[in-house]
Amino acid sequence: MLTGRGGVVTGWGIAVPDKVVTNDDLSATMDTNDAWIVERTGIRERRIGGTTSGLAIEAGRRALEHAGRTPDEIDAVVLATTTPDAIVPGTSATVQDGLGIAGGAFDVNAACSGFVYGLSVAHGLLAIGARRLLLIGADTLSRITDWDDRSVAVLVGDGAGAVVLEAVDGPGQLLSWNVGADGSLRHLLKCDHGGYLYMDGKEIFRKAVRVLVDSALQAVSEAGLTIDDIDLMVPHQANLRIITAACQRLGIPEDKAVMVIDRYGNTSSASIPLALVDALETGRLEKGANVLLTGFGGGMTWASAVLRWGG
Ligand code: UT7
Repeated sequence: MLTGRGGVVTGWGIAVPDKVVTNDDLSATMDTNDAWIVERTGIRERRIGGTTSGLAIEAGRRALEHAGRTPDEIDAVVLATTTPDAIVPGTSATVQDGLGIAGGAFDVNAACSGFVYGLSVAHGLLAIGARRLLLIGADTLSRITDWDDRSVAVLVGDGAGAVVLEAVDGPGQLLSWNVGADGSLRHLLKCDHGGYLYMDGKEIFRKAVRVLVDSALQAVSEAGLTIDDIDLMVPHQANLRIITAACQRLGIPEDKAVMVIDRYGNTSSASIPLALVDALETGRLEKGANVLLTGFGGGMTWASAVLRWGG
């Protein structure tokens, strides 16, 4: 990294709606079944409900408490979301108000890659003088889903995950990052104003594995590491088969990949922080571990980062 000032994660938290919707629940209202959904996606249940700002505020509050920080100590809230409460204002403004954050607030929309985009942007702010930031990934895809369209409805879930990032002298925890986009593929995954989420699942699947692998390899190499040095991979949770295929091509054993898709489905910007926090709370991520975060999504966009946990 080129900067003399880096960041470390000092707190984290998640929020998911209470309502659990199982595959059998969906099978009662549409032509699908548990066996198909589990085999093709790895999803067993998802959480549905709430608003993007509501979930983001809850996750953000937990992250602040965990970090031992108060809202007036935060220079900005960066909210990655692709399902804002409204077009204007940014949902981050509602989060700023809800938590009483002293500093600025802005949204980052890079679809499911949003959290890693946000992480990169946040480190940029830390490098130029921000002291503490609240980075949140929150989405409520259920609100833009046609619940009669089984091609999308079985995939989505709602949730939020947040981290507090604090500036440190020296390189901090971020060893490398990259962000990428190919807007000529924007037709593959889209939602027009007032419409429903559409995706060309097959084509996204094909492209996703390729961009994820390329972006991850670039991040590992720019971190000065090899694949064998990666202790934990935290991938976007869109489909278990995408994660498995990416692991195979990267040469990362599957047991190093964090999987929460069975419980939460595809939660877009929330999926990487939900998986990251799961790894932290189950003791899978210890100080000094090399962690690869990697995501892809509508745009298409993709992004990866390698962190040395704890800085
Ligand atoms: O966050 C990033 C964005 N999204 C993604 O990354 C999604 C990427 N794509 C995928 O995850 C997969 O392509 C899907 C899970 C969406 C679909 O899996 P697939 O293996 O590509 O299935 P398919 O679309 O080829 O459909 C196979 C069969 C079809 O029937 P026929 O033509 O073989 O008779 C579908 O009509 O499965 C049928 N089908 C279903 N059956 C039961 C499609 N959706 C369902 C369903 N339940 N929900």
